[in-house]
Amino acid sequence: MEANNNRGFTSNIGAILAAAGGAVGLGNVWRFPYMLGSNGGGAFLLVYVFFVLLIGIPLMMSEFIIGRRAQRNVVGAFRVLSPKHKGWMLVGIFGIVCAFLIYAFYSVVAGWTLNYIVLAAGGRLAGQTPDRVTQIFSDFTQGSFWPLCNQFLFLALTGLVVMMGVQKGIEKVSKILMPVLFILLLLMCVRSVTLGAGAKEGLSFLFKPDFSKITGSCILSALGQSFFSMSIGMGAMITYGSYIRKEDKLFNTSVWIAVCDSLVAILAGIVIFPAVFAFSMDPASGPELVYIVLPNVFNSMPGGVVFAVVFFLLLGIAALTSTISLLEILVAAAVEELHWTRRRASLVCSIVVFVIGAFCTLSFGPLKNMTIFDSTIFELFDKITASYLMPIGALMLTIFLGWFMPKAEVKDELSNGGAIKARAFELYYFVLRYVAPIALVIILITGIVG
Ligand code: TRP
Repeated sequence: MEANNNRGFTSNIGAILAAAGGAVGLGNVWRFPYMLGSNGGGAFLLVYVFFVLLIGIPLMMSEFIIGRRAQRNVVGAFRVLSPKHKGWMLVGIFGIVCAFLIYAFYSVVAGWTLNYIVLAAGGRLAGQTPDRVTQIFSDFTQGSFWPLCNQFLFLALTGLVVMMGVQKGIEKVSKILMPVLFILLLLMCVRSVTLGAGAKEGLSFLFKPDFSKITGSCILSALGQSFFSMSIGMGAMITYGSYIRKEDKLFNTSVWIAVCDSLVAILAGIVIFPAVFAFSMDPASGPELVYIVLPNVFNSMPGGVVFAVVFFLLLGIAALTSTISLLEILVAAAVEELHWTRRRASLVCSIVVFVIGAFCTLSFGPLKNMTIFDSTIFELFDKITASYLMPIGALMLTIFLGWFMPKAEVKDELSNGGAIKARAFELYYFVLRYVAPIALVIILITGIVG
């Protein structure tokens, strides 16, 4: 069957690494610290971890169940699993729209990594004062030509990899490079927590929850961040689920991915916040946080230039494995549903994303004053997708799987046709049917109202 061409990871570890590669990305190293910094520090972390455990893992399992059962992309999965009620396909189409929007603003920040690799390699960040480092960032992002070039380059790179088929190249690359990124983050943690005075303050900002900071918007942002970081709520994991072998355990796979993903985010926090306080910067400075804090950390390390180049290179690669997963959602759908060639699908989708994404890039410069609800286009895309669209998508997914699909089918898929004991099935099913949807509705309403 055409839809099954080229389908299938060859091992469980391959599936875990590929999905974790898609999950671990700028969301962990760039978005997590900046969201935490602007939304109450330790309180945010606590709520975030709570959501990963309560909703994140069950939801990831649910997407895997849908994807593996249907053996299809995000749109096709609903078509196959619900042949009589075509309306469910809208959930898949919703996911596609979401993927376009996320990819549009994600590629902006991914492009920044390219610029920072060049800046770091040219020694242009070395020896600069914190103020000057901040200036370099705003000079760069306020331009039009270079940020657009970088974004274009990143989209092209992603497009090429996806065109060639993901499995061989990128899986191998991420298997080696993701652990390297992890080790590098560990090294940087050591440097950051030994920065002296500010370090302690930074760690307590990160780990000591101030419960008064748990507001409606803190909760909504933490929920959104957990979804964004785990790539759930819009069908990315449906696409990946369709590649997972029938004998792999979906629960274990999900837990592994969640653990890797959260660990990287927390490590990034341990690198960023001690440095933020040591260099007297503002933890709530927004999307630029990582890009204005890290160069100062490198400047205070022996061999900082080398570390900086390697770090931004790896961050770029982490971003690439994620942009690949974003484009793969779109391409898999276009190939299987519209019968386009992989090449055509990659090309057309990338061009569309560039056209939308250019507005996001320019919203740091020429379009800075074009705001909607007090947010620039970039901020709007970032916030709307993570805080609203992904939770809404998640809600529809839980209703589909928990209330529409027969329970026996869900259990059959999760237990690999009864081959393994899905011991916690009843608990999972309870969360899927009641806890997750009710929590999502409450959070969405309080987030919107408050
Ligand atoms: N989770 C990725 C990150 O943290 C980003 C990402 C990749 C994503 N694919 C996605 C987010 C699909 C939402 C949906 O960087």
